[in-house]
Amino acid sequence: MLQIHRTRWTDSVQRVFLIIGLATLSATATAQGKGDPARGAAKVAACAACHGPEGGKPIAGMPALSGQQEEFLVLQMILLREGLRDVPAMNGMLKAFSDPDLMDIAAYYSNTKPFTASGSERNPQRYALGADISKAMGCGSCHMGNYTGQRQVPRITNQREDYLAAALKAYRDNRRSGVDTSMNAVMYKATDADIAALAHYLAHQ
Ligand code: HEC
Ligand code: HEC
Repeated sequence: MLQIHRTRWTDSVQRVFLIIGLATLSATATAQGKGDPARGAAKVAACAACHGPEGGKPIAGMPALSGQQEEFLVLQMILLREGLRDVPAMNGMLKAFSDPDLMDIAAYYSNTKPFTASGSERNPQRYALGADISKAMGCGSCHMGNYTGQRQVPRITNQREDYLAAALKAYRDNRRSGVDTSMNAVMYKATDADIAALAHYLAHQ
């Protein structure tokens, strides 16, 4: 369904087709009752080196995956596999996987115990500042009040602080965008100090 020929298409045309493909895929996934966690468990041996056992204890700068939203995981792995989200550390890691494989892997991670991976000590002032900024910027309106996410919107509560800060900067600086550009629009005016406070607050829920 998602065969892509980079050499013949420009990136933006590719993205449009990919988005149609992703919408179809997520509709099919929902209709068919999705991937299989047990099959997924057999495909993630190589992932623990960076994302930790069961995706719950990532090394510095890497995202935790355990308990993450299933639909978000499927979409991100497709973006990563197709090179539309450029992560050198993961280049080629997903090439061998078909769409159903990725759905199995997403089913596996989304059914493991949600991560608590802050990776830093809590600082009350920075936490309070981050809480105010999050409220003002409406982060909870998509990520939900407790930041556990929904469907294609990721769980961000207790994610690693360094990863959160890097992800928010990448959206602000247009180095990353997802299936839609909502995060680029949200972050576009944020300062480095806003981002640092938001990442600290979210990492310490
Ligand atoms: C060598 C380290 C490394 C290995 C091994 C690795 N990853 Fe990753 N992964 C990363 C990095 C680095 C990122 C994203 C960092 C960024 O965007 O700044 C990432 C991002 C992801 C994301 C997106 C998560 C999010 O919250 O946005 C998923 C899903 C993922 N990896 C799945 C996998 C799977 C499945 C495997 C095994 C098949 C795997 N990774 C193996 C380093 C790795
Ligand atoms: C309009 C809805 C919306 C709002 C408001 C919103 N987000 Fe998001 N957020 C998303 C979506 C959708 C994604 C997935 C985008 C993608 O595919 O890359 C996302 C992704 C993220 C990620 C990446 C997580 C990961 O694991 O890679 C972080 C971090 C994040 N949002 C934090 C925030 C913060 C902080 C705020 C408030 C300043 C916020 N978001 C406001 C919809 C929203």
